[in-house]
Amino acid sequence: MQIVDIDFCVPDDIRSLVEIEEVCFDIPWEEYMIERDLNEPGNAIYLKAVIKGTIAGYGVLGRADDTAHLMNLAVLPEYRRQGIALQLMTAFGEISEDWRCRRMCLEVRSSNNIARDFYASIGFVYLSRIKGYYVDREDALVLTARLPLRIP
Ligand SMILES: CC(C)(COP(=O)(O)OP(=O)(O)OC[C@H]1O[C@@H](n2cnc3c(N)ncnc32)[C@H](O)[C@@H]1OP(=O)(O)O)[C@@H](O)C(=O)NCCC(=O)NCCS
Repeated sequence: MQIVDIDFCVPDDIRSLVEIEEVCFDIPWEEYMIERDLNEPGNAIYLKAVIKGTIAGYGVLGRADDTAHLMNLAVLPEYRRQGIALQLMTAFGEISEDWRCRRMCLEVRSSNNIARDFYASIGFVYLSRIKGYYVDREDALVLTARLPLRIP
């Protein structure tokens, strides 16, 4: 496992986060959304995984009542399968428990088998399907996990 520094994102990270989005997703989050979140405290929590000064991955967590909501998670291709997403999820799990949340949920594209395998490996299970959730009309699967997460 590659040990990374996990830290909160700051506005100076926006360019790197946009690059990660463009590499990792066919329909990336737009810069203005990330900029708005990072410039308005109280919105979603953005965490980055840093290796030797490079942001190798990042994730975004929100909250609704007693449920933490994982809104995004991405690791650059050259850094995958090194446990980086696991370390981001460990940090998000700790934040969720500080918030006294009982569970975490997320949406994932029904075709995204790699992410589904990743989430299954830490205890997420299928909850429901949202037809045409994404802008290209692909369905989302809603996954949920009890806290604390089952991180190996
Ligand atoms: C999903 C993603 C975040 C995983 O990041 P990662 O840092 O490579 O994941 P990890 O190395 O922490 O993987 C932990 C475990 O998840 C599972 N896993 C991860 N990638 C996998 C793959 N390609 N195939 C099968 N299982 C996989 C494995 O059990 C793995 O443990 P192992 O490597 O010891 O077998 C990454 O593939 C990614 O950024 N994908 C593109 C963006 C995306 O789809 N994000 C999810 C949006 S909902």
